[in-house]
Amino acid sequence: MISLTIDGREIQVPRGTTLLTACRQAGADIPTLCYDPDLRLAGSCRMCVVEVKGRRNLVAGCVTPAENNMVVETESPDVVESRKIILELLLARHKLTCHTCESDGSCKLQDYCYRYGVTDSRFTGEFHDGPHFSKEDANPFIKRDYDKCIMCTRCVRACEEITGAQAINVMNRGHHAKIATIFDGNLEDSPCVFCGQCIMVCPVGALTSKVAAGKGKSYQTEKVLTTCTYCGTGCTLELNVKDDKVVGVTSVRDENWSPVNRGALCVKGRFGWDFINSSDRLTTPLIRENGELRPASWDEALDFTAAKIKEIKGEHGPDSLAMFSSARVTNEENYLAQKLMRAAIGTNNVDHCARL
Ligand code: FES
Repeated sequence: MISLTIDGREIQVPRGTTLLTACRQAGADIPTLCYDPDLRLAGSCRMCVVEVKGRRNLVAGCVTPAENNMVVETESPDVVESRKIILELLLARHKLTCHTCESDGSCKLQDYCYRYGVTDSRFTGEFHDGPHFSKEDANPFIKRDYDKCIMCTRCVRACEEITGAQAINVMNRGHHAKIATIFDGNLEDSPCVFCGQCIMVCPVGALTSKVAAGKGKSYQTEKVLTTCTYCGTGCTLELNVKDDKVVGVTSVRDENWSPVNRGALCVKGRFGWDFINSSDRLTTPLIRENGELRPASWDEALDFTAAKIKEIKGEHGPDSLAMFSSARVTNEENYLAQKLMRAAIGTNNVDHCARL
């Protein structure tokens, strides 16, 4: 362990800990843009700069190891001034259309500008509606707005390190730098699998879901934690609910809540939820009477089914019954389904729709 003093507070951390982690452990709220705990370090945005006594320059906390006896200031006048300039530089090429932005309320750039009182930029940037920046990508899922991209490259790293698709990278340099697919083509023609991990890690409104567009901003929706119903992997996700309707899906990155996928989803889990609101869905059990289906309560339907199962078992024995379960319920529910058949009914006749 090593000891260091952060904002006047002495703390101990294991050797090899970054200054960012040490500062956060000491209770300091360090702003970050390019840093993501699940991705390799980039150290490019410099929002996380802190002042270390005896060092000539401010250091980026996310890529600097904490050292024994360091004395660190996380909000000194120089640190604040530096962060303000970084924000102004970013605003120089960031269209301020927060009122119509899908990420309004969940945008780090917006939060930090508010925190440091940065309203405008003294620098003149170059916006991206020029010929170097194609704005429209015909894919049905992911919208990329180059006028909001801060070039943190989190999307590039997530695509490579979480999904393994390597569909995008940085193209060109300077004002012409942008995130692009190979030969600057459409995502559809690239190795992109439309998992949307790039949307998950984007700290601003540069990458958003086309499927959820216009249906509700983050702070307008209730988040309901649930398990994806598409396959047996059991990924955790959160349904975004507004006015009793599902209007989007977002990732849960906390390992304690999302131990299986830690926020990563596939195209179906992230974008394939609109069926939930279909008027064709069954929303109540139906019991067939005289050839006609009529709506029933769950209590009535379960009592009816239990009575029929008992009747059939009594007349023909347990092996006259079988359970056909589904890949679209959780593993735990499948466990209960086979348990019901084996332990309660007394048959091994259990099968599953995924055994195609
Ligand atoms: Fe540390 Fe970007 S968060 S350099």
